[in-house]
Amino acid sequence: MMNRRNFFGASASAGAAAGINSFFNASAEAAEVKAPQGTVAVRGADGRLKRLGTLDLESQQDFTLGFRLMHNKKLRAQSQSAFERLLYTKKVDPATQMTMEEMLALVADEPAIHIASKTWLANQQVTWKTLQDYFHANADLYLSEMDAADKVGPGKLELSPTMDIPAECRHEIHIQPGGYVGDEFAGHIYHYGTNSFYIAVLGHNEQDQIHKGVAARLPIPEDGKVKRILDMGCGVGQYTVALKERFPEAEVWGIDIGGPMVRYAHTRANFLNNGANFAQRLAYDTKFPDGYFDLVTSYIMHHEVPAEGTKKIIDEARRVTRTGGVYYPLDFMSGGTKAVAPAMYNRWWDHRWNNEVWSREYHSIDFSKEIAARGFTMPAKPVAALPGFGARHAIKV
Ligand SMILES: C[S@@+](CC[C@H](N)C(=O)[O-])C[C@H]1O[C@@H](n2cnc3c(N)ncnc32)[C@H](O)[C@@H]1O
Repeated sequence: MMNRRNFFGASASAGAAAGINSFFNASAEAAEVKAPQGTVAVRGADGRLKRLGTLDLESQQDFTLGFRLMHNKKLRAQSQSAFERLLYTKKVDPATQMTMEEMLALVADEPAIHIASKTWLANQQVTWKTLQDYFHANADLYLSEMDAADKVGPGKLELSPTMDIPAECRHEIHIQPGGYVGDEFAGHIYHYGTNSFYIAVLGHNEQDQIHKGVAARLPIPEDGKVKRILDMGCGVGQYTVALKERFPEAEVWGIDIGGPMVRYAHTRANFLNNGANFAQRLAYDTKFPDGYFDLVTSYIMHHEVPAEGTKKIIDEARRVTRTGGVYYPLDFMSGGTKAVAPAMYNRWWDHRWNNEVWSREYHSIDFSKEIAARGFTMPAKPVAALPGFGARHAIKV
């Protein structure tokens, strides 16, 4: 077995030595690896969110969240105004479809835009780095906790360590070090890092409020039968556990290409005593039988896969959704509206600097039309789920 301390660096067991307590304490084995009491107090949970292992780290995260809130309110607004002022002074119609080169030439000498970009990026890097450093420094503790949880329920976990991860999934999305597949703690890092995104952009999510809200509004098949549900690209399983909470009798599966993501999702679901199942699988190759699910859904996965991948995933959704079942993927609205210059700039920025590798491809296709072209009926009036993210309610015919 790999020596974890060599893998992550000499300080891998520092947390245990310092008495930091593991997160989920999912089983007796996990309890055994807990450090002796006394040096660092048990930090407990804030509702369903386990508190981070040290006050220092929590304070760092508070700082970067606060900075991000300030940035959204002030610096981003200044940057947006500067962009609009440039369009005005250079007499560019905001509805113009500019080339990337034209757009970059336009902003080249505008300090408000560059300051906003740089500060946002630096803050994002600090958010990820402080989390990654912490989990690596306490690797033994958190890996042992996941090891112990792997075989414990109530839900099942299936990992595929020899799986060939497609190159298209191996990138550092949102500049998260290691991305979804390249760090044993991708799930831990993603969960705490994206809390900052959700709180700054949508107001909250530390109690899974966003995912619960979406799960609560999910339309069900007309015959009312909901025995099996699939959440594609489930990440750390916040939506998956919310689905299981809404449909406790159903067999609920969350699948994701990231092994560390589903491992963390499973450990956390155990902590919540939630019986959702998790598996490391590709959304376009789910391995489930034809027509197995009454509901197939996903939350903000598609803008992170190539356009051809999205088409393959819709085909797979059609295969595994039963006749009369509901397919309800949520992601940004795409294709339908003509991007005007400021929106194009923001999209380019996200792609270039926040490493949203596939989002421009995603926006180049009309997701709803692709679904409608694959044997689903789109209800005339889609169910509104969340401001900012589109809702697509489709019924398999
Ligand atoms: C933005 S995250 C969203 C995660 C989760 N649905 C949530 O609400 O937090 C996108 C997720 O899709 C997963 N993903 C991307 N491409 C995938 C694919 N081809 N098959 C399965 N999962 C994929 C990523 O690993 C990641 O966890």
